[in-house]
Amino acid sequence: MGCMMNKQKGIRILAVGRALPGKSLSNRDLEKMVDTSDDWIYERTGIRNRYRCSIEDVNTLAAAAAKEAIEKSGIDPGEIGVLIVATSSGKYVFPSAAAMVQKELGLSERILCFDLSAACSGFLYAINAARGLLRDSKKPYALVIGSEQLSRLVDYTDRNTCILFGDGAGAVLFRLSEKEFYHVSFTEGNKEALYIGGIGSDIRYLQMNGREVFRFAVKAMERVIEELLMQSGKRLEEIDHVICHQANARIIQSVSRKHPGLEPRFYMNIERYGNTSAASIPIVLSELEEVGRLQGTTCLMTGFGAGLSYGGILAEL
Ligand code: UT7
Repeated sequence: MGCMMNKQKGIRILAVGRALPGKSLSNRDLEKMVDTSDDWIYERTGIRNRYRCSIEDVNTLAAAAAKEAIEKSGIDPGEIGVLIVATSSGKYVFPSAAAMVQKELGLSERILCFDLSAACSGFLYAINAARGLLRDSKKPYALVIGSEQLSRLVDYTDRNTCILFGDGAGAVLFRLSEKEFYHVSFTEGNKEALYIGGIGSDIRYLQMNGREVFRFAVKAMERVIEELLMQSGKRLEEIDHVICHQANARIIQSVSRKHPGLEPRFYMNIERYGNTSAASIPIVLSELEEVGRLQGTTCLMTGFGAGLSYGGILAEL
């Protein structure tokens, strides 16, 4: 089963899992916490509900999502050679969430296992990184998880930010394949638009210039779509699903409107989860898999976030 110096460039998703906290936080709940309304939040963001951890954390959500993916796939978990958790809201500074997932699921100690920090772009960066590492791995499978407890990083007296974010996790188990795979990534080196201080800082909660991030996000995702289509020589008509980071329904609509007639291919589930950062794209993937619409399709995935970072993947799955 070894994949040493593998020349395969694509990925084949074997299974996807997701995990959400037991408790949700609706717009109506938020009305009692800050000066806002269900109508305002829904009109400006498309969000009605999000989940918030009580007993869960980044590690337990990640492990639960990963367990579901492994069980569905039926693979031998000892054959997982790479495990990456994309997160910006880890329970500990160290050990990594990935190390805690390895322990919780009893995975092999012979595993390349670490967290990746690239905010909301983290999941797609992690898929790409794991794919590269797998090509030089002795084991055939990679597990990539996006897991977030953004509720730890959000000030629930700040209506500009607290309405947006939610907690959750999604996990994708894959191996290399001969299928098509294209990727692109960018970083602008910007701290002002989206920022949280480090250990010992007074800036413990997410600081955001909403309008700036909105404008950036639309341009960033348009650029990624254009570049990936150019690289692959495909037209958007040939893509089954366009999976954008779920940050705001209006951002996704601004992008999809540039492709008249193809708007329904732009997946949206933000109404139910809010912005779950690195978890948003794998949660979409898990929903698509659940209804049998993932494997065998061609997907264009694009994310953006603090950094300001952005990127995407166009792949046959
Ligand atoms: O993963 C990346 C993370 N971040 C993002 O993706 C954020 C991208 N940006 C956005 O999603 C939007 O900019 C927001 C949803 C954050 C804000 O929507 P907006 O349409 O850009 O509103 P705004 O910031 O321009 O504010 C409009 C008004 C302001 O009042 P005034 O100054 O016009 O009187 C705000 O104070 O809405 C007010 N406002 C609110 N009102 C009720 C801001 N937040 C709220 C609120 N409820 N929660």
